[in-house]
Order: sequence, then C-alpha cells, then structure tokens
Amino acid sequence: MSWQVVPIERRHVAGFREVLDGVARERRYLAFLEAPPPARMRRFVLDGLRAGIPQFVAVDDARVVGWCDVVPKSHETLRHSGTLGMGVAASHRGIGVGTALLRATLEGAFARGLTRVELVVRADNEPAIALYRRHGFELEGRLRRYVVVDGVAHDALQMARLG
Ligand SMILES: CC(C)(COP(=O)(O)OP(=O)(O)OC[C@H]1O[C@@H](n2cnc3c(N)ncnc32)[C@H](O)[C@@H]1OP(=O)(O)O)[C@@H](O)C(=O)NCCC(=O)NCCS
Repeated sequence: MSWQVVPIERRHVAGFREVLDGVARERRYLAFLEAPPPARMRRFVLDGLRAGIPQFVAVDDARVVGWCDVVPKSHETLRHSGTLGMGVAASHRGIGVGTALLRATLEGAFARGLTRVELVVRADNEPAIALYRRHGFELEGRLRRYVVVDGVAHDALQMARLG
C-alpha cells in the first residue's frame, strides 16, 4: 500500500464521505451511524477550506482512506479551542495512517494558534485512546452512558491536549 496524508481539497469530498460512511456503519466508533447527506459534507469541507481549518485526508491511489480535522469553536471565549475528529478505513488500520493524520492535524491546529484540542472517544475504543495518549492527550473525565447504540449504552472519555 502506498498512501499519503495531504490537506483536504474539494476533489476529496466524495471520497471523504465514503470513508466516513464506512466507519460510521461499523456502529462502534462514531457519534453518527451513517455519513451526513452529500450536500452537508460538501458544505462542511468547503466552509473548512474557506476558514483554513486543519483538515487532512489520507489517500491511497486516489482513494480516501482516512481523515482528521480540528473544528475551532465559534463562541468568543472558546475560540482558542477545537474539536478533533478522525477515522481510518478498516482496510488501512494498524499501518501508521492514523498516526500520520493526527500528527499533521495537530501541527496545523497549534500552528493556527489553537491552545486546546479536545475530543470525545468511546471508553471501549482502546486503539484510539492509546493513539491519543501517545500524542499527548490527557483524560479529563468520563461521560457516563454518553452513547446509545442498538439500545446499549456506552461510556465515553473526554480528552484534551493543550498546545
Ligand atoms: C483509532 C484509529 C484512527 C487509529 O488509526 P490507525 O491508522 O489504525 O493507527 P496507527 O496504525 O497509526 O496505529 C497507532 C497506534 O495504535 C496501535 N494500534 C493499532 N491498532 C490497534 C489495535 N487494534 N489495538 C491496540 N492498538 C492498536 C498501533 O500499534 C500504533 O501504536 P504505535 O504508534 O506504538 O505503533 C483507527 O483505528 C480507526 O479509524 N478506528 C475507527 C474510528 C475511530 O475510532 N475514530 C476515532 C473516534 S474518537
């Protein structure tokens, strides 16, 4: 496999939606169970490009196989802070894609002047929690019964890294 991490561009929108949809449909990792409609995904990416938010994709032979972004908060008192989201296609996990995506996105977030990057991760998502810890995220709290999937409640962890 020969993949690389690049800043997202307009031409990646459909592929970004496809990989996100695949991960959402695994029903174990994300807050949504399928991707938002194409128009909403397109708006998200184009707004992000205009605002210059750190938003990267991993691309393997023109296929988008992962994403990572930090969306800055909009309230005046919270603008130093952003929320991180990421995922890697099941076919490309465990080979360093997530590490490369996270590194590039955090670098972009702190270069942009953010001083706090936060995220919420399901408490049973060990690979993701290990990855975040390795990149300096610390546990801030446990969100009890935060997610309900197929009638089953799961706790989540609030983590943050300060820059
Ligand atoms: C979490 C995720 C993004 C990690 O991406 P990845 O490309 O698989 O990660 P990497 O290959 O860069 O590996 C990162 C580290 O996790 C470890 N790891 C990978 N798979 C693992 C597993 N199944 N169990 C435990 N550790 C694992 C690797 O050993 C690596 O550690 P190292 O840096 O010491 O070598 C990916 O598993 C994923 O997309 N999961 C589903 C979506 C998701 O959980 N998103 C985050 C929601 S908050």
